[in-house]
Amino acid sequence: MGAVTNVVYLIASVLFILGLKKLGSPKTARQGNVYSMLGMLLAIVITLLDQRIVDFTYIIAGLLVGSVIGAIAAKKVEMTQMPQMVALFNGFGGIASTFVAYSEFVTKLSENLPVGGTDVVVSLVLSLLIGTVTFTGSMIAFLKLQGWMPGRPIVFKGQVAFNGLLLAGTFVLGWMFGMDTMNGQTFLLVIIAIAAVLGVTSVIPIGGADMPVVISLLNSYSGLAAAATGFVLSNNVLIISGALVGASGIILTQIMCVAMNRSLANVLFAAVGTDSGSGASGGGEQRNVTRYTADDAAMIFENSESVIIVPGYGLAVAQAQHVMNELMQLLEKRGINVRFAIHPVAGRMPGHMNVLLAEANVSYDKLVEMDAINDDFQSTDVALVVGANDVINPAARYKKDSPLYGMPILNVDQAQRVMIIKRSLATGFAGEDNELFYDDNTMMLFGDAKKMLTDIVKILKDE
Ligand code: TAP
Repeated sequence: MGAVTNVVYLIASVLFILGLKKLGSPKTARQGNVYSMLGMLLAIVITLLDQRIVDFTYIIAGLLVGSVIGAIAAKKVEMTQMPQMVALFNGFGGIASTFVAYSEFVTKLSENLPVGGTDVVVSLVLSLLIGTVTFTGSMIAFLKLQGWMPGRPIVFKGQVAFNGLLLAGTFVLGWMFGMDTMNGQTFLLVIIAIAAVLGVTSVIPIGGADMPVVISLLNSYSGLAAAATGFVLSNNVLIISGALVGASGIILTQIMCVAMNRSLANVLFAAVGTDSGSGASGGGEQRNVTRYTADDAAMIFENSESVIIVPGYGLAVAQAQHVMNELMQLLEKRGINVRFAIHPVAGRMPGHMNVLLAEANVSYDKLVEMDAINDDFQSTDVALVVGANDVINPAARYKKDSPLYGMPILNVDQAQRVMIIKRSLATGFAGEDNELFYDDNTMMLFGDAKKMLTDIVKILKDE
């Protein structure tokens, strides 16, 4: 590999790192994406120029087909379906690592060349193992999130031990392969088959509600598989970019676990979760609550000085972010101090609310993280909750048998008044009833978030 190639790979790697850094803040995230895309373009172009490629037919065909599918998916897939899409991406990344590593082995075999030293043998086995686990695990995650298979945990007796046995089996087979690599093709194929089963059996016991965490973990796996393949091919940029994905995926997994006050082991092995899926079915127990109207809400706003808005998954479902911004501006025109409280796991993916509100051009400095705003609720006139449920559910504080128990929540109940816009009394993602709906301080505004906000905006405009 030429010196020029390695220098370009280095530049690409620096761009990836800068890109990741800039993705850390909503203000610089777009720039971060551009940096990363540029890095990837450089890496792809120099790889195509440098390698001894005999025929570009398949490469161009692959690029075309992949680009068309990617472009259509990016346009068509709703933001609320992003976790499924990421699951597919991870899975395909994993299987690509498996294919590339395996084809490198087969090429060497057909040319009667040695596979390589212990480092290459270990990397090859790891690449096939992790790449295939990522693929089948991600497919299960996709099916669960898409609702094409039950979201609840699927468990059987001795599952953890069974998975441990499968994993140990692949290590033994990998060692046997290392003993005689020239005649070890069958061992590799059996490793792939076992890894395929392991991917399924390790993801099915995880409840649908925990799936976003698992997707982040699988994202990390896909990076590790790519890094291992990088070692097989002696390709520096693949090693570095794979390691970056591996590390950032595991950091994100950790952040999500901390935000839900759960350990990773609890997410992976405790089979916590429900079948409630989107929580949007309206199946909650009906108790007596007073219904308030858009007129009531407008009147309360007229007499307020401070409002904290809590956006949740329902805001994304209703696509109400633009009218949300309009309401914020109307309130600010009246001299009301308006801010958004962002819970780290509001919505269905990390940064979901930030992205959603950025799309509606809500200024970034209006978005305040949970820890920074939680103490302010007690001095706030109105906490306006739009399509959020779990992230404000007080059961997280006291109900020990609740899947939410221990998760830090937004202290909306400390505000003078809580307005909650949602369509029914249905539970949220975790399937836990919310006592707050029945509180004297709470005004339930039943309806689709977009419709209700539009009605309130109309009334405020007419006044
Ligand atoms: P949820 O608890 O899921 O509640 C969303 C609420 O929105 C539902 O109760 C639903 O009630 C309402 N809704 C749905 N469509 C609506 C519409 N068109 N108009 C108005 N309301 C609508 O959402 P949340 O509070 O954002 O909490 C997120 C949950 O996802 C947490 O449990 C969290 O742990 C989990 N989770 C998130 C992540 C990330 S990274 N964000 C990762 C893992 C897990 P109705 O049906 O009554 O309208």
